Amino acid sequence: MQFSNFVRTFNAHSGAKELMEDMSCNPPGIDSVHRLGGGNPAIIPEVAELFRAELAKIASNPGRFDRMASTYSEPLGDARLREILADLLRDEYGWRLTSKNIALTSGSQLGFYFLFNLFGGAGPGGKRRRIIIPLCPEYIGYQGLLANKNDVVSRRSDIRKLPNRQFKYGLRMDGLEDVEDMGAIVVSRPTNPTGNVIRQSELARLDEVARARKAPLIVDNAYGLPFPGMIYVNAAPQWNENTILTMSLSKIGLPALRTGIVVANEEVTEILGRINALTQLAVGAAGAALAAPLLKNRELLRISRDLIRPFYQRKVTEAVGLCHEALSICDYYIHKPEGSMFLWLWFPGLNDNRALYRRLKARGVMILSGSEFFPGLRAPWTHSRECIRINVCGDADMVFGGLRIIGEEASRLQARAA
Ligand SMILES: Cc1ncc(COP(=O)(O)O)c(C=O)c1O
Repeated sequence: MQFSNFVRTFNAHSGAKELMEDMSCNPPGIDSVHRLGGGNPAIIPEVAELFRAELAKIASNPGRFDRMASTYSEPLGDARLREILADLLRDEYGWRLTSKNIALTSGSQLGFYFLFNLFGGAGPGGKRRRIIIPLCPEYIGYQGLLANKNDVVSRRSDIRKLPNRQFKYGLRMDGLEDVEDMGAIVVSRPTNPTGNVIRQSELARLDEVARARKAPLIVDNAYGLPFPGMIYVNAAPQWNENTILTMSLSKIGLPALRTGIVVANEEVTEILGRINALTQLAVGAAGAALAAPLLKNRELLRISRDLIRPFYQRKVTEAVGLCHEALSICDYYIHKPEGSMFLWLWFPGLNDNRALYRRLKARGVMILSGSEFFPGLRAPWTHSRECIRINVCGDADMVFGGLRIIGEEASRLQARAA
């Protein structure tokens, strides 16, 4: 069959597709799998119970059921959720916004597809506009969203070693203000894969640089505040008319309901509404139906603060301890975990994290190769072949078992490369 050039965007290797496949299947011949790969959130019993109870209320209330399942929502997404969320963000953070500043998308990943294409690629007069990733490694899902892969550009970070085999990437601002073809700057905060939380002052600098180029600063808040709240250092979310803040219901435990949230100025949300209508008529309303009452009575903030954040913080802290026990046979560093549900491990001299990924998969340990987290990095950087990401949500024995095998295979590859 003859496809149009549209297919080119989707034909290249995609880390996102590999990760989604890995999450749902077992490597052949392996019964017991150590699932340290994709980004499925944990099922926290008290949280799941809250959602089930809300669903039961919807099922027994014809009005609420019809609203969720039997009527299309408006192009910007369920009006009730957007109004409640606007109230909440105004009350909590003092932001001057209304429901018109909020657009829903079918998962924030789709929101990123729209936003990258709105701000990256050919602009007026055919001039290229690029999506700038100032702190790399960055989220795997920013790769491959644009037809021309050169329209996404990453900049190397500084590496700062810390005590106790930890390290931290630092944002390099030098030369950023000279980037003339900047279409948007994008950062995830907390960063997936590293758990880095860039500082308020750094966000303010990025905002300044972006404004000077008439470009938005896109802040991906999938793990941030006020929900799911997976931030373990002092930080507050930021928003202004030049910031596009994306949020998601996925990491509070509803990834299958595909509900993404974009908070932006009305020019941006209005366009997103048009794209929603054109591409899908309306965004599914199940996530909104469950979340709206829990946002109205602030239950979602309470569970984020009292259940979700402590759960993941404990998991991350526990996993750091397990790494020290299981990885002592190789040379390793752990990125300082300031947020999210991942650990980012660096094995200096490893040289081939794709090979490590394959060896581990063959032994039933699912991880993500760090090489997938450098979207748009042009210049070679050995470091991009030395890291992996693990999801630490699972049971401690499973994580420990996986880490031991990671240690064995990483030390073999390190010895071979030496
Ligand atoms: C940083 C980040 N942004 C966006 C997404 C997309 O999330 P969703 O499409 O489920 O809302 C994810 C998912 O893992 C993520 O980690």
